[in-house]
Amino acid sequence: MVEASEVQRGLQDVVALESRICFIDGRLGRLLYQGYDIRELAERSTFEEVAYLLWYGRLPTSAQLGDLSARLRELRALPAPLSDWIATLPPTTAPMDLLRTAVSALALFEPEETRPGPSSIGGAQRLTAVLPTILGQFHRQRTGAKPLRPRPELSAAAYLLYAVLDREPTELETRALDVALILHADHELNASTFAARVTASTLSDLYSAVTSAIGTLKGPLHGGANERVMELLAEIGTVDRVEEVVKERLARHERIMGFGHRVYKVEDPRATILRRWSEKVGAAKGNLHDYELLRKLEEVVHREKGLYPNVDLYSGSVYALFGIPPDLFTPLFASSRVAGWTAHVLEEYDDLRLIRPTAAYVGPTDLTYVPIAERSADAGPSPGRAPPA
Ligand code: CMC
Repeated sequence: MVEASEVQRGLQDVVALESRICFIDGRLGRLLYQGYDIRELAERSTFEEVAYLLWYGRLPTSAQLGDLSARLRELRALPAPLSDWIATLPPTTAPMDLLRTAVSALALFEPEETRPGPSSIGGAQRLTAVLPTILGQFHRQRTGAKPLRPRPELSAAAYLLYAVLDREPTELETRALDVALILHADHELNASTFAARVTASTLSDLYSAVTSAIGTLKGPLHGGANERVMELLAEIGTVDRVEEVVKERLARHERIMGFGHRVYKVEDPRATILRRWSEKVGAAKGNLHDYELLRKLEEVVHREKGLYPNVDLYSGSVYALFGIPPDLFTPLFASSRVAGWTAHVLEEYDDLRLIRPTAAYVGPTDLTYVPIAERSADAGPSPGRAPPA
């Protein structure tokens, strides 16, 4: 029998599987995709190139990259019934709920791509191509903007910006988003990737795995943190209030979103790069307000709690400068991480073993069944959840 003392809460430090996709050195603040340093990829590559790297395990030649980019552009359109369903949604629909349900619904129209196995690479590309269209159609309809066009001449980053902004993005904006997409594309066994791999490990299909992943990313301790950072900035308002608001929150034992990480014990290298982009885009737009608040926030949180920023601290400040509303920040994260989720699902199919951990049972073992007529409402042999009154 497993003892309660053996439990690694939150599976912390548990080595669950072997993977070639992503390496994190949490003590040195290093992050590699398939052996390549994230700093170099963010400097020199594009999201399409990184997606190729994650899926195929090697950097593409220019012909291979051209083929993949063309394929992703061809795969942007939605099946008409799915598009019609999105058109019925109220503007109050949460975009992460839309994304999760739309991916699940898409499987109804694409049984081939959903089949588990090596052919799932087609499904990986389809999902990566289509998430921006789902978001774009919905966001345009809730804001009364012009309908979305496929725009096959646009790169993944430019199309995503065009989809949600209803205008031509500038070169600086496109590059900034491209870098953000590169930085978010994978992160080893984070909670949503693990959820995807658990689903795939039952030999379930790729779209089910990505549906699990989107539902998991949504939580504020994971991808939902970027949206919460902007709520915090709005509450703080001005630099002189940072100290007071942080101290109040910490006194109430609340978490400061965008700080801390299960694996990094130093600064998350993605935060370092996004900080620079937050300053660069802010300077170009003549608006360094959020950047300055975040710098002060970093200083106070580090002094008070010794915590470093994670990837979610600065990303929202960049997206907000483009005019993207906060409820699309986590969906943007998903639009990038889908490349990593699907790469992990493909790796899972290649070396499949059902993921099924075990629990330390801490309940009673010797209860006698009491007939219903003899039971009392208040007395229970084990301190379970209170029944409804
Ligand atoms: N604000 C205040 N205290 C914190 C924070 C924070 N952001 N992060 C950790 N702590 C404290 C926590 O209260 C605990 O203190 P104590 O030991 O006194 O109870 C200690 O640090 C250890 O925390 P933990 O929850 O055991 O550590 P963890 O490895 O489970 O936490 C985390 C990782 C990301 C859930 C956590 O740091 C957190 O909640 N951060 C805020 C949410 C956030 O920014 N999430 C995005 C993570 S990075 C991108 C992604 O994965 O999506």
